[in-house]
Amino acid sequence: MSYFLSPKKILFGKNMLRRLGAELEGRGQKAVLITDKNMAELSGELVETVKSAGYEVRVWDGAEPEPSTAGAIEVLKVLQEFAPQLIIAFGGGSVIDTAKAAWVLYENPEIPPAEITTVNVKTKLTPQKKARFMTVPTTSGTGSDVTWAIVLADTAEHRKIGFAHTEIVPDITLLVPEFTVGMPRALTASTGLDVLGHALDGYTARQQTDFSDGLCLQAMKLAFEWLPKACADGDDLVAREKMQNATTIAGLGFGNSNTSLCHALAHTLGATFNMPHGRSVGITLPYSLEYIASNPPLEGAPDPVARLSTAARFAGIDATSDQEAIQKLIQKLRDLAKETGEPLSLKEAGIMEQQMNDNLDTLVALASKDVNMYSSPCECKDEKLRRLFQDIWKGK
Ligand SMILES: NC(=O)c1ccc[n+]([C@@H]2O[C@H](COP(=O)([O-])OP(=O)(O)OC[C@H]3O[C@@H](n4cnc5c(N)ncnc54)[C@H](O)[C@@H]3O)[C@@H](O)[C@H]2O)c1
Ligand SMILES: [Fe+2]
Repeated sequence: MSYFLSPKKILFGKNMLRRLGAELEGRGQKAVLITDKNMAELSGELVETVKSAGYEVRVWDGAEPEPSTAGAIEVLKVLQEFAPQLIIAFGGGSVIDTAKAAWVLYENPEIPPAEITTVNVKTKLTPQKKARFMTVPTTSGTGSDVTWAIVLADTAEHRKIGFAHTEIVPDITLLVPEFTVGMPRALTASTGLDVLGHALDGYTARQQTDFSDGLCLQAMKLAFEWLPKACADGDDLVAREKMQNATTIAGLGFGNSNTSLCHALAHTLGATFNMPHGRSVGITLPYSLEYIASNPPLEGAPDPVARLSTAARFAGIDATSDQEAIQKLIQKLRDLAKETGEPLSLKEAGIMEQQMNDNLDTLVALASKDVNMYSSPCECKDEKLRRLFQDIWKGK
């Protein structure tokens, strides 16, 4: 990777909603807010702010969790009919990815909507001219609010497809910690572990750069410190704000590096066992780190032992050797999952042995072709990948 991309503006801090009006005034007359049924109820204040800035606002609340192309195609119809100059995604990663995909299709009518997942860095996309795209995340996990990636599920093939393009960067990201206060403890925990997955995958991925490194390290440190507090007291606004910052900082980090082995495994589990994204990341993260810390790196890849021991020390871990630092870092992740009530293995997550055995070949096949696998600093395929999935099922 030889460039760094981010939204033009990330608005954060106190009373940000009140300051949003000035950002939007005079930049258009029509806005579409994309959300889901849960979050639509909480969108009132945001909608009123946008209206006060001079916009007619239409709300579409049909986004589904772990979205597929279908939702984006529905949104596209609304965009084409209403012709907004502002598109707002208000929700978790599922809403944001649905909106992002619809926005890309709105700006690029030559792309057949059903083929949106085939977009890649080489696709010729027109720079946006119809609408600005604003993201307002309500979970603290995916970082999709600032990344130039989209993840959609291929329901027919039971797999998740991640794709990215440098023209898919949102214009404005609005961080309002109050919007995340309603997250139940389990969602707070699983999305928070996703942040650690982004930070550590991004820091060890083959595409890491000097620019992404610092962001990944800081995001990891913030999440280790503040996730337990956000889980212990969901009304703790400081903890909510810190986790929101950690999430977006991790998004800037991994978004300009890549996610890697942990996410290749997690996407596969998510699609095969219908498991929420953050939960599958929380399960696969310790195993993927153990794997890269004990296998030889590929030629030209960053040395995972040097990287992970640096990350461990940045997280405040004391150790007399690199391997000890890494083991302590992995244990810290397991302790955090336990403390926040998240499962440490597929067995603990309720996947039966028979179900696992029936799906093992599929898991290996899907993970092998997951795009994140190409970012792994170590090769992981065939028998090694199979054994890794077996370990992830039975736990350690
Ligand atoms: N594009 C990217 O860069 C990127 C990166 C990582 C993950 N993802 C994708 O993001 C999706 C997961 O997103 P997610 O983890 O944010 O969850 P989500 O968006 O799927 O939301 C999960 C549930 O939580 C609810 N919810 C959202 N905010 C809430 C709040 N404040 N209070 C109460 N309930 C709330 C939603 O309505 C939904 O029912 C997956 O599809 C994943 O693959 C995308
Ligand atoms: Fe993730």
